[in-house]
Amino acid sequence: MNKVVGTAVSRKDGRAKVMGTATYAAEHQIPGLVHGYLVTSSIANGQIKSIDISAAKKASGVIAVFTHENAPKMFMPTNDFMTSKIYEARLPLSDDKIHYAGQIIGLVVADTFERARDAAHLVKVEYATQKPLVEVIKASFKEPPPQFGEELKFEKGNFATGLASATTKLTATYKTSTEMHAPMEPHATIAHWQDANSLTIYEPSQWVLGSQRTYADLFGLPSERVRVVTPFLGGAFGSKAFPWPHGILCAAAARQVQRPLKVVLSRRQMTANAGHRSETEQTIRLGATADGSLTAIAHEVKSYTSPVDVFTEPCTGITPVMYTAPNLQLKQELAVLNIGTPTFMRGPGENPGLWAMESAMDELAWMLKIDPVELRLKNETKEHQRQGKPFSAKHFADCLRVGAEQFDWKDRPKQPRSLTRDGKLVGWGMAASTFPGLRTKASVKVRLLPDGTAHLLTAGNDMGTGAYTVVAVTAAEALGLPVEQVRVELGDSLLPDGGLAGGSQMTASLVPAVMSACQQVLKTANAKTAQEAFATLRQSKRAAFEAIASSAPGDEAKKWAFQSWGAHFCEVSVDEEIGRLRVTRWVSVMDIGRVINSKTAASQVRGGVIMGIGQALMEECHLDPNIGYPVVYDLATYHFPAHADTPRIEVAFVGEPDLNFNPGGARGVGEIGITGVSAAIANAVYHATGKRIRDLPITPDKLI
Ligand code: MOS
Repeated sequence: MNKVVGTAVSRKDGRAKVMGTATYAAEHQIPGLVHGYLVTSSIANGQIKSIDISAAKKASGVIAVFTHENAPKMFMPTNDFMTSKIYEARLPLSDDKIHYAGQIIGLVVADTFERARDAAHLVKVEYATQKPLVEVIKASFKEPPPQFGEELKFEKGNFATGLASATTKLTATYKTSTEMHAPMEPHATIAHWQDANSLTIYEPSQWVLGSQRTYADLFGLPSERVRVVTPFLGGAFGSKAFPWPHGILCAAAARQVQRPLKVVLSRRQMTANAGHRSETEQTIRLGATADGSLTAIAHEVKSYTSPVDVFTEPCTGITPVMYTAPNLQLKQELAVLNIGTPTFMRGPGENPGLWAMESAMDELAWMLKIDPVELRLKNETKEHQRQGKPFSAKHFADCLRVGAEQFDWKDRPKQPRSLTRDGKLVGWGMAASTFPGLRTKASVKVRLLPDGTAHLLTAGNDMGTGAYTVVAVTAAEALGLPVEQVRVELGDSLLPDGGLAGGSQMTASLVPAVMSACQQVLKTANAKTAQEAFATLRQSKRAAFEAIASSAPGDEAKKWAFQSWGAHFCEVSVDEEIGRLRVTRWVSVMDIGRVINSKTAASQVRGGVIMGIGQALMEECHLDPNIGYPVVYDLATYHFPAHADTPRIEVAFVGEPDLNFNPGGARGVGEIGITGVSAAIANAVYHATGKRIRDLPITPDKLI
């Protein structure tokens, strides 16, 4: 039996991506394709008084111009997560109201992209303008509705009593900035109607089967009449799970003009129309006794949503899973701003939630004069304090211990400002990571072919996370084949339902289905190994052995809480004269259940850490209070870490296969890497400088 699972396997799709042969949404070649360019609002609040399209219509190459006055037909889908969810509850062009700057108010269709863009600028709009509300400080906050069927409010014990019994008390408020979604592949849609009732959509989708249902509902069609094709995504991070207004409008307009139509967002348009993470303001209150035992935890969160839909950044999700306290109080508040609807972004809730909690735990450790690793070990919880269930296969303590050892944490000087190198202050910090183990039903088809290859097919998506390779690795081991002899096809709604590439669940969903399909096909072939099956095929002149199998969660979640864990340790250097902060060393240790491919799993953690460095040091988005537009709007003004900003990131895995969770034992790794990163950096900055930064990002002005 060859051992493939857990080894380091290079991406199956790596060569295609490097050679430019991987086809992204906007690159599909469709004969007769025409181009759409969005017309967007230059005000952030008000109404369209008049919209004059006469000049645009007469411009050369223009085929059609759509506004709210002649909006193409579409129906409102359920907007429910599991049936037909759209990112924004208001359909494009549904009336003359303007809710945020950059809102789509028209679409110009022309024979070339340049002509469509040129004509879009000829559309003349008169607005009745109202002052937009884009500053959180001026907003009024209310209790949000339940999210995904769960109340956000929670109380266990009595916080006030718990705090009264504490000898050390901390109250601190932590902030994060609005963060833009900016995957490397911009959002784009090609809509191709074969006839008035058959639609093919090429767009970056984390969930082709979900989008298929949604587009079907939008146009009053049965699902089978819609096909969504997404073989490759250039990053998604939560911004490509459901249709956005531009995709919906593209499909509606294409039906009307009876031509295949492509709409591509510019980087500037993406700032308004492709999602972002709401800024947050979080107050953490902790009470502890002198030995470091927590007596009370309160976590209060403010975030914002748009005027047209509700999305609450669910930061309090982490609080009942991290540290045990007899008294726990959680509260979220939500305000409405004139901004597009915020959405899921890598570690939604977990990431900003841990920024606050893991900063507060560090502050408490300094107050108590207890090592921050020890403080966490002391307060680890064995059960999910909201669900009242024990965690399955939890190895958080190993993450802390192994990380501390690899980093030589014991050598850390106990006072701030005590390490220097080359005239700069140096500091060490650490923080914990967590993300829930999620999983959905998935189905996989496998075909054994006479040429000695196995072909695996499922509609699941690889958004750059490594799903192609995870499927190949699992099948290679189950069939006893070299990984090179396994071919994988993903990302087409015609294939068996592969579930959603979101919530870090693609691996945990697909791996058990792949295992099951491979066992099934060997049974069908009456063979012990794939080699035996291939021999039978060649003798019998049969075209293929084929099997399809599904795997779904059972009732294990009644008994267990599933959660992944981790710890980050980092070093920073700070040049106080110019406020320059650099991250110089990094160790991450993760407990994610079974590691299917150690190479892509470590890459996921590294990607998360790098994205977290961006959040900690650079990503900042203010909106101009007069016009409501972001003052940063492209990759030149909205900064991300480059290689020079990124240290070597050591990644290690600990733990054991979580076989209570699924037969593959994997819990997923897409999001956990980013959680805790910004707190680890801020904690290291405190150690270096003695300055406690509670407001992200940590820009030079805060360090001088
Ligand atoms: Mo993720 S934010 O569930 O794509």
